Amino acid sequence: MKYILGIESSCDDTSAAVIDERGVLLSNVIASQKVHEDFGGVVPELASRAHQQNIVPVVSEAIRQAGIDKNALSAIAFTRGPGLPGSLHVGTSFSKGLALALDVPLVDVNHLHGHVLAHFIKEDINTPVPEFPFLCLLVSGGNSQIVRVDAPTEMEIIGQTIDDAAGEAFDKCAKVMGLPYPGGPIIDRLASEGDAKRFRFSKPHIDGYNYSFSGLKTSFLYTLRDALKEDPDFIEKNKADLAASLQKTIVDILMDKFTKAIRDTGVKTIAIAGGVSANSAVRNAVAEYARRHRLTAFIPKRTFTTDNAAMIAVAGLYKYLAGDFCDITAPPFSRVII
Ligand code: KG4
Repeated sequence: MKYILGIESSCDDTSAAVIDERGVLLSNVIASQKVHEDFGGVVPELASRAHQQNIVPVVSEAIRQAGIDKNALSAIAFTRGPGLPGSLHVGTSFSKGLALALDVPLVDVNHLHGHVLAHFIKEDINTPVPEFPFLCLLVSGGNSQIVRVDAPTEMEIIGQTIDDAAGEAFDKCAKVMGLPYPGGPIIDRLASEGDAKRFRFSKPHIDGYNYSFSGLKTSFLYTLRDALKEDPDFIEKNKADLAASLQKTIVDILMDKFTKAIRDTGVKTIAIAGGVSANSAVRNAVAEYARRHRLTAFIPKRTFTTDNAAMIAVAGLYKYLAGDFCDITAPPFSRVII
């Protein structure tokens, strides 16, 4: 049996995972960094320092939990980008050192491919995986894309945001409401108790399958600014309704282009991925659309929506099987085009 070790260090989570050649996950260890909480966002310098502290224990624990010896590993897959340069350097250098020490191939993984291929992580041999071609709505803190997937190593972005990502829209609007970072999950929680029809915020009018969220952010900010002039307690009194209305607007914007792409391409299988795919309303909207149109929807387990090395290991497995290895001199990329 072949075993692939995946290493993820693109932002503020240090993660390592082991997957076998069938795609069955044997371990997935994640060390999240608490150090950023006081700063309202990820501080790059602190993130790379924490990766240095975490990477050896996280990788050792992933190999231990997989129940294998490190000499049984067949390849080391690592996130080469996109991400924070300092964070990527830690995972990249560590992976190179380990691949050299074990004398096994090195496989570089595009972090965004990893998110899309998270649907191929098998928790056991019978876990169903998507059939090709499928469309994936990839929504995270840094990206909002519609990706057409024709094979594990063949994918094309057919639509993407021209400004903010969906996660940024959640986080920036949450910040305007005085909520801590990241605001997305808090908006999700508050929204469950609010009236989504109470407030209206502007939606973009742009061509094709592209997204834009900057207008929504401005419209949200102006609504709050005007209302606060009349009532300084406006946010506190209307927290849940604001969150529900904001969330509904974001979901409407996402679904408008995603459903257009589904109709135009005629795919029978759809999926969502990335941090924002943990959002209850996004998950419900996609599942409901699939049910109404008799499509198969892949909604990831919440553990696989945020950054994790299991998705890097599975994406690495496909490249490994294709013999697509990475040169030892390859630098990380902070920005990568799929
Ligand atoms: O994929 P991810 O972990 O990393 C980045 O791309 O940075 O995504 C993080 C993003 C953040 O913007 C966070 O607010 C958002 O995902 N997020 C959510 C939820 N959980 C995470 N947004 C809305 N609802 C959620 N439940």
